Amino acid sequence: MIDVEEEERLYRELFDVSNEAKEIGNEIHVDIVPAMNALRDAAPVMPGSLQQLLHLEGHTINNWDVERDSYTLLSFAACDRALRENLTFSSAGYLETPGVRSMGPVILAMTGDEHRRTRAVAQSMFLKPRAMNWWGPNWIDEIVEQLMQRLDGRDTAELNIELCARLPVNVVTRGIGMEGRMALVFRDHLLKATGVRKVTREEQYASHIEVGRMLGDLITLRRAEPGDDVITGLIHNDFKLADGGTRKLSDEEIIGFCRLVILAGGGTTWRQLGITLYALLNDYRFWEACRDDRSLIEAAIEESARWMPTDPVFPRLMTEDAVVDGVPVPAGVRIDMCLGSANRDPSRWDNPDVYDLFREKKYHLGFGLGPHQCLGMNVAKQEMIVALNALMNRFPNMRLDPAAPPPRIVGGLEQRGMSAIPVLLH
Ligand code: HEM
Repeated sequence: MIDVEEEERLYRELFDVSNEAKEIGNEIHVDIVPAMNALRDAAPVMPGSLQQLLHLEGHTINNWDVERDSYTLLSFAACDRALRENLTFSSAGYLETPGVRSMGPVILAMTGDEHRRTRAVAQSMFLKPRAMNWWGPNWIDEIVEQLMQRLDGRDTAELNIELCARLPVNVVTRGIGMEGRMALVFRDHLLKATGVRKVTREEQYASHIEVGRMLGDLITLRRAEPGDDVITGLIHNDFKLADGGTRKLSDEEIIGFCRLVILAGGGTTWRQLGITLYALLNDYRFWEACRDDRSLIEAAIEESARWMPTDPVFPRLMTEDAVVDGVPVPAGVRIDMCLGSANRDPSRWDNPDVYDLFREKKYHLGFGLGPHQCLGMNVAKQEMIVALNALMNRFPNMRLDPAAPPPRIVGGLEQRGMSAIPVLLH
């Protein structure tokens, strides 16, 4: 258990986009979007990793521990195909990073039948109706209300820390079945264990053991006393076997699932909510439009995930030779799918570099696509919808604080987010 001061310190330490990138050695000081766009305009697919193509050598992105040549997919058509054809553009590539391997068996790195069957055990808990009718009333609504109450009576706020950071980490930790007060300590251990926070090998190992112990204890408890949470669902749902039979997930499989869900669900939603808020407040017409017609909020979130996906690049491993958007790509190479440049491909969107709430609706790649499309996207969207509605109800005239340094999009190649979101609440 940590006190309020320690909690405040941890929030500032764990939810600083620049610091997070600095710690893993991939902080970028320039706006990478024009550079990614220029690459895509030169060719839809290029030999070399995105890191090499952007001349970011020295950045320790992902810490691959298997030597391979790389290719980068830059166009919408190339990334769209790679996301759909997961046997050719294989997610097993993730297993070549120690961080993912340390999580145990996780769907992110599985392919084919194994992936489909394992994901199906959890899928029903993450569908849109469950996001709205289970995650909402059980966790999201209450946590948002508590965060709003902290802002009552105030004139200013820094919403990156006071809202965007606090909401997802608490929702996902409590959704798993852990007590809210454990959220930060658990996330800190998880980031250290998976190498997202740089610590000594001994500390990394100690955190790895601690994460396993905390989740293991919770699984033991829920086996004895079922709750109404994700762990209970993972314990009770059937894994359907190819021969028509069923089995239950092992503790190790459940622990892997929880590690992934907490890691994937905490950081991304924090940063994407910040980007969405910034986009709306930066072009105040869009804040006003959403405030006056709440049915537009969902489009605001989708457009933010298209315009500035918090994670602009994802990996794959090529399992066979293929011609991708006209370019031959050999088997055995590592693939960087640059969703950032694909989402701004002018062959698909007019004025793609502009955040436009009213643009024609078309699917984008910000939540991925195909078999590995984000499992938690409905939960993430529900969190953002409830948070934005609550802000608009409470602080309809909220605006960026002109006296504070203007918010910037910062971070590394793999995770982008806001430097801060200073606002005047009234
Ligand atoms: C705005 C927030 C989010 C964004 C932009 C996002 C984005 C993504 C993307 C692009 C992928 C595909 C990765 C790949 O194909 O290699 C993914 C996968 C995944 N996400 Fe999210 N995510 C978000 C929130 C969440 C949340 C809230 C959760 C859980 C509560 C979550 C859980 C997962 C899981 C488990 C996977 C792996 C799915 C699989 O491999 O089948 N994500 N996410």
